Amino acid sequence: MLSREQDFENRIVAPEMEEMDRENELNLRPRTLDEYIGQTKAKENMAIYIEAAKRRGDALDHVLLYGPPGLGKTTLSEIIANEMGVGFRITSGPAIERPGDLAALLTNLNENDILFIDEIHRMNRSVEEVLYPAMEDYALDIIVGKGPSARSIRVDLPHFTLVGATTRAGQLSAPLRDRFGVVARLELYTPEELCKIAVRSAGILGIEVEPEGAMELARRSRGTPRIVNRFLKRVRDFAQVIGDGVITKEIAAEALSRLEVDELGLDSIDRRLLSTMIRHYGGGPVGLETLAAAIGEEAITIEDVYEPYLMQIGFLSRTPRGRCATALAYEHLGITPPAAEIMPAPEQMKLEV
Ligand code: ADE
Repeated sequence: MLSREQDFENRIVAPEMEEMDRENELNLRPRTLDEYIGQTKAKENMAIYIEAAKRRGDALDHVLLYGPPGLGKTTLSEIIANEMGVGFRITSGPAIERPGDLAALLTNLNENDILFIDEIHRMNRSVEEVLYPAMEDYALDIIVGKGPSARSIRVDLPHFTLVGATTRAGQLSAPLRDRFGVVARLELYTPEELCKIAVRSAGILGIEVEPEGAMELARRSRGTPRIVNRFLKRVRDFAQVIGDGVITKEIAAEALSRLEVDELGLDSIDRRLLSTMIRHYGGGPVGLETLAAAIGEEAITIEDVYEPYLMQIGFLSRTPRGRCATALAYEHLGITPPAAEIMPAPEQMKLEV
C-alpha cells in the first residue's frame, strides 16, 4: 500500500500544497478582494464585514473558512488582513502543541491583528480550551501554582480576529464552532473561474496561453486553483519542447494526457476508485472503509481529496448506506450501467403485473 505522502508525490492533481507550489503561490497569490477570482458569495459577504469592522474601528468577528484543500483559504485570510490593514500571524492546529504555545502567540498579537490557524480541527483539546475565553472575552486564564494553592489569573489580550481553516467542519467541537461569528464555505471553482485564474497567472509568469488553452487547463483542474497553476507551469514545458512556446488547446490536451490526467481532470487513482466500486461492488452502495481498503488509500483521503470533485461532477453519491457510482461514472469509464442490463424497463414491469 502506498502511504499518503508517496501517493501524492506522483500525483499532479493532488490539491494539497506540495513543495513545488510554494513559490507559485507566493507570486501568484492575489493580494486584494478585487484580484481574487471566484468564491463570489464568500467574497461579497466578507467585503461587507470588513467594511463594517473598519468603520467601527473594531476587530473583525472570528471567521471559520471550510472546504476542500487548495481553494485559497490561506490566501483569502491574508487578503482579509490586507484589506483590514492589520497584521497577519499564521500557524496550524498540529503546530500548537501545548496551551503555552497558543498563549505565546496570542500575547504577541497587536490590536485587531489576524491569527490564522490552518487545520484547526487538528488542535488538541487542552489548547482548544485556552482559545474559548480568548475568542469570547479577549482574555487568557492562567493557572498559577499547584495543588490546593493553585489560582487562576486573567490576562487581557488585544482584540484580535481568529481565522480558522478546516477541510472538515464536522470535526470541530460545538463550543469551538459556535464561537465563530462568520462561517464561510469555500466551493470548488467553475471551469470559467479557473480559466480566468490561469490567464491571470500566465500574465504574472510571462507564459503565453491562448484562451482555449487556458480553458483546457481549467476543465481538467478539478475545481482547484492550486492545480490549474501547477498545470500552467508543467504544460509550458511541453509547449516549449513540442510546440512554439504558446499553450494552445491542443498542446494543453496532449500534455495533460501524457500526465495521465483525462478530459475531466481524473487521474489514475480516481479511475481506480470508480472502477473498483463498479467492478467489485456493483457500483455500490459500498462503505467508505471497505472502499479505502480495496484501493489502498486512507478513508480520510478519499473523503477529503477524491470525493468532493467526483461528487461535483456527478460521478459519485454519498448515501446513508455507502458510496454509489452514478450512470455518468459508468459512461465515462466505458462500462454499461446495470439498469440497462438487468433491470426491466418500466413498461415491461407494468406488463408483468
Ligand atoms: N490564484 C490562486 N487562487 C486565486 C484566486 N482565487 N483568484 C486569483 N488568483 C488566484
